[in-house]
Amino acid sequence: MIMSGQNQNPNSQYSKPIGSDGVDVLHDMNDHHAPLWDWIISNLPRAMDGSILDIGCGGGGFLKRLSDRYPYALFFGIDISDDALDVTAEVNYDLMEEGSLELLNASVSDIPFEEGSFDLVTAVETYFFWPDLKSDIEEAYRVTSAGGMFVIGSEMRVTVDDTEYIESSLRDYGARLVPDEVIVGHMESAGFDVKVETAPDSRWVMYIGVKRI
Ligand SMILES: C[S@@+](CC[C@H](N)C(=O)[O-])C[C@H]1O[C@@H](n2cnc3c(N)ncnc32)[C@H](O)[C@@H]1O
Repeated sequence: MIMSGQNQNPNSQYSKPIGSDGVDVLHDMNDHHAPLWDWIISNLPRAMDGSILDIGCGGGGFLKRLSDRYPYALFFGIDISDDALDVTAEVNYDLMEEGSLELLNASVSDIPFEEGSFDLVTAVETYFFWPDLKSDIEEAYRVTSAGGMFVIGSEMRVTVDDTEYIESSLRDYGARLVPDEVIVGHMESAGFDVKVETAPDSRWVMYIGVKRI
């Protein structure tokens, strides 16, 4: 099927939403991911007034929820899709107007900020599309402040026994799902202390890393 955007495979709209189909996918994700975001935010600190970066911000709904939770923080979003950044800007019009949100087209592999820039770095439903998970987590570590937090969230937690689910996610969506021990291993070797939270009766998972001081 030929898409109206540049993506030929409709499922690649999840890894890099482009064009009108991509914009539709971004709005759908803003609806579909909302319960996951609420659960993630319920496990984050009650207050925060520093700088917060969302990697792979997609349609920007998570940044909007973070700004409701942390009204005194400064927000930053990066994504490799200009269309995602446009939707994020629309959805967060007020934040953009007041200068509390900066958006940049950038990959997690090369985050255009100085070391230790952020008190909280988040990455929801995106790690499985990253080019090199280990070094990309090290890059997130670089921009996290000492004692700051890096959170990876996913609604597709797997164990090593989930072979069929892992294979179909890769085949259908290009999503390279990995079990807890792989993500936790990469986060710990980067220099985070890590806690894993899961939600009952679902595959929801969040990896909470605190940068060792
Ligand atoms: C499934 S969407 C999730 C979007 C959003 N975080 C959410 O929770 O709805 C994945 C997003 O990650 C972005 N992405 C993929 N690879 C990336 C990379 N290497 N660096 C930054 N963002 C990336 C995609 O463009 C897309 O917007």
